[in-house]
Amino acid sequence: MSEEEQKTYENETSAKKEEGPLDKPNYWGVLGSKNPAHGGKREGAGRPLGSKSKKPWKGMIELAEKYNLRVIEDAAEMHGQTYKNLKCGSFGDISVFSFYPNKHITTGEGGMLSTNDEELFIKAKSMRNLCFQEHKRFVHEDLGWNLRMTNIQAALGLAQLEKLEEHIVKKRHIGNLYDSFLHNSSLIQTPLKENEFSKNIYWVYGVVLTESISISAEEVQKRLRDLGIGTRPFFWPMHEQPILKKLGLFQDEHYPVSSILGRKGFYLPSGLNLTDSQIEKSANSLLSVLT
Ligand SMILES: Cc1ncc(COP(=O)(O)O)c(C=O)c1O
Repeated sequence: MSEEEQKTYENETSAKKEEGPLDKPNYWGVLGSKNPAHGGKREGAGRPLGSKSKKPWKGMIELAEKYNLRVIEDAAEMHGQTYKNLKCGSFGDISVFSFYPNKHITTGEGGMLSTNDEELFIKAKSMRNLCFQEHKRFVHEDLGWNLRMTNIQAALGLAQLEKLEEHIVKKRHIGNLYDSFLHNSSLIQTPLKENEFSKNIYWVYGVVLTESISISAEEVQKRLRDLGIGTRPFFWPMHEQPILKKLGLFQDEHYPVSSILGRKGFYLPSGLNLTDSQIEKSANSLLSVLT
């Protein structure tokens, strides 16, 4: 960790301590910056998951209606997942899925959007095809892109779709197996198995080092790599992205939960082809580098 990163981390961690510990795994919500203009209260955008409403997204949809906004649901990794028994990918004006190779189902690259709004459907179909017009093909009324999915990708995607349930069963098996080796360790926080509105599919098995571990996730990942175990880092926080800072965004803003997760979290191998003994080896290797 560079000196500057370490300083930011210390600031962020102390801000988090004011609010309570991060070791509650269901508390990965956004903890925004304190805004002096609003009496020093924290503010920030976040996921609507904590909503007490029985109707998913109710608060967010009401807000969108009030300000005449459209809701885009990022369901990139949510294939087969439900929220309060309703399918993810069905809540937004537009919902989007990713078919990148690490997802439950893949087309090699690319993705899909779903919508119940015919106007948006026609518009999106046109935009992905350079906004060609039916009668004047090369006269463009709008800006469009070549984002077409090839027939070969679509055929692969359909075959993958047939395997979605099988892949979910396998992912849950991987998650449960990791849990059986790691869940009782006080050195790491393991993923939630379920909560009141969903059951984990374990798209990836993410762990977060607890406060008892002084080294960073990056260092643990390096030690695991030396043992032949490949891992992936968590996403790096948006408010610490150099390009966004350069553009003048997120100046003096602190989002401690994201900062801690970015530095202390990483993913263990979670691919569909892993064997039980490979999973056991990954879990034991992790415990061995931490003790
Ligand atoms: C929540 C979320 N949104 C968006 C993406 C990006 O998807 P893609 O790689 O298909 O652009 C990902 C990728 O993992 C994701 O996890």
